[in-house]
Amino acid sequence: MGTREREVLARGDMPRHVAVIMDGNGRWAKRRHRPRIFGHREGMKSVRRVIEAAADLEIPYLTLFAFSQENWKRPRAEVEALMTLLKRYIDSERDELVEKGIRVKAIGELDRLEPVAGDALDRLIEATAAGEALTVTLCLSYGGRTEIVEAARRAMKAARAGEMDPEDLDEETFAGLLYTADLPDPDLLIRTSGELRVSNFLLWQIAYTELYVTDILWPDFDRQALVEAIAAYQERERRFGTVHA
Ligand code: IPE
Ligand code: IPE
Ligand code: MG
Repeated sequence: MGTREREVLARGDMPRHVAVIMDGNGRWAKRRHRPRIFGHREGMKSVRRVIEAAADLEIPYLTLFAFSQENWKRPRAEVEALMTLLKRYIDSERDELVEKGIRVKAIGELDRLEPVAGDALDRLIEATAAGEALTVTLCLSYGGRTEIVEAARRAMKAARAGEMDPEDLDEETFAGLLYTADLPDPDLLIRTSGELRVSNFLLWQIAYTELYVTDILWPDFDRQALVEAIAAYQERERRFGTVHA
């Protein structure tokens, strides 16, 4: 662990939950005159590095936006390559994730994933279920608006079945119907590659999350970049709408 890391840790004000929009793989490849998939492959190495760093920094929750609902609109060859990479990533990392006590979860429209990737994912989730060091949530075929609509549908069904009084629906019970029911809201949301938008990610959950955008492209994002994002987070004054003396 480097000096900067120790310094950031010593400040004590560590985020409990870090969420990341892992963006910029295509541009990273383009700069090298390589196909986009080359960037996705390199991006997998960043996923590995960031999970390892988060575990070392004892961050309890890390949530990674890996594939959005809108990403299905990309060329078929790119989508297929991403599915293949997902399966390959899972197969190559599984043993180490288990060994490190990292629990993997996934949220999104998981039944839309290619069966080979979906099956590998199910096995990974099962194999890591007892992990207690860090919970990594992979967002796959994820869309924030769909998540909210699905929660609303569940609430309506429960009301129709007489299991819930509409008057009892409040923010807390609604949050409990989202995919993220058992996760705290993110404290810090990192987006790589400089885009100043949320792209349909965790819309409900980021109401009071600190946003951090870096120009670093995802394949170049490393441990040091994560530490700098946390250092920037520690400089923020989180007011939650109130005033501080
Ligand atoms: C992020 O990189 C990975 C996915 C969205 C799957 P991009 O593929 O969006 O890369 P850019 O934004 O085109 O550079
Ligand atoms: C957001 O990145 C989705 C993921 C990182 C998985 P995109 O590259 O798809 O977002 P836009 O199209 O720039 O908004
Ligand atoms: Mg992008």
